[in-house]
Amino acid sequence: MIKNTLIQAVEVGAKELIRFFNGSFTVSSKATINDLVTEADHASEKAIIELIQSQFPDHFILSEETGEMASASDTKWIIDPIDGTINFANGIPICCVSIGVEYKGEMILGSVYNPFMNELYFAEKGKGATLNGRPMRVSKKESLLQSCLVTGFPYQYLDTANGPLQVFEKLVRKAIPVRRLGSAALDLCWTAAGRFDGFYEHKLQAWDSAAGYLMVEEAGGKVTDLSGNRYNPYQPGIIATNGFIHDQLQAVVNGGEL
Ligand code: IPD
Ligand code: CA
Ligand code: CA
Repeated sequence: MIKNTLIQAVEVGAKELIRFFNGSFTVSSKATINDLVTEADHASEKAIIELIQSQFPDHFILSEETGEMASASDTKWIIDPIDGTINFANGIPICCVSIGVEYKGEMILGSVYNPFMNELYFAEKGKGATLNGRPMRVSKKESLLQSCLVTGFPYQYLDTANGPLQVFEKLVRKAIPVRRLGSAALDLCWTAAGRFDGFYEHKLQAWDSAAGYLMVEEAGGKVTDLSGNRYNPYQPGIIATNGFIHDQLQAVVNGGEL
């Protein structure tokens, strides 16, 4: 039942993305000038929350634009109504709806839907991950130097040691392809699908990664924080890889040379 609701939820959200895409919609800034929210983010979020509440009125909800709708329930829905809002606002169809479901603090389900590519990703703890119903596996690449990576940059410049630009520069100086899609949820799903060998980012929110990190783990990959500890979506850093290149990438993210 909850699985069906999850799929329905990403679908009702995605309908709003399609409805507004390339049309006219309001856009406003949040904490910084380029941290955007559009009318479509709000419409997607409203449709998703209404659907979940119609079926599970007492569940806990954490959603990017609304914040926490707290309850005593053990089940928590973590919603990003559009991941890749800047892409969406510019008519770039690399964006999605992302929803993770936590039970007693453990991520048990995740789904990500990019309606523009007609790609529906789904993961269930212990039962694998699928893309449009077909099982996904991470890549088998063993060398970081031969890997194809993806990353993202926060809306505010992070001027820290081994910050996003330093790590990026180090990798690019070795001519390692490092893509930047603009949607952390899709970065993770594409890593799960074996399109990328690894993804790292310095500052994400729980709704960016909730569904996607389960996707990578269930596709046989490895996900940790920047220090290599078991991943917790309520802290900022993430490294998600096929497992083989994890230690090599983690070393570079922490200041090591290639
Ligand atoms: C953003 C995207 C982007 C990442 C940012 C996120 P939003 O989410 O996932 O790839 O680099 O840190 O905030 O704002 O499009 O939902
Ligand atoms: Ca996001
Ligand atoms: Ca968002």
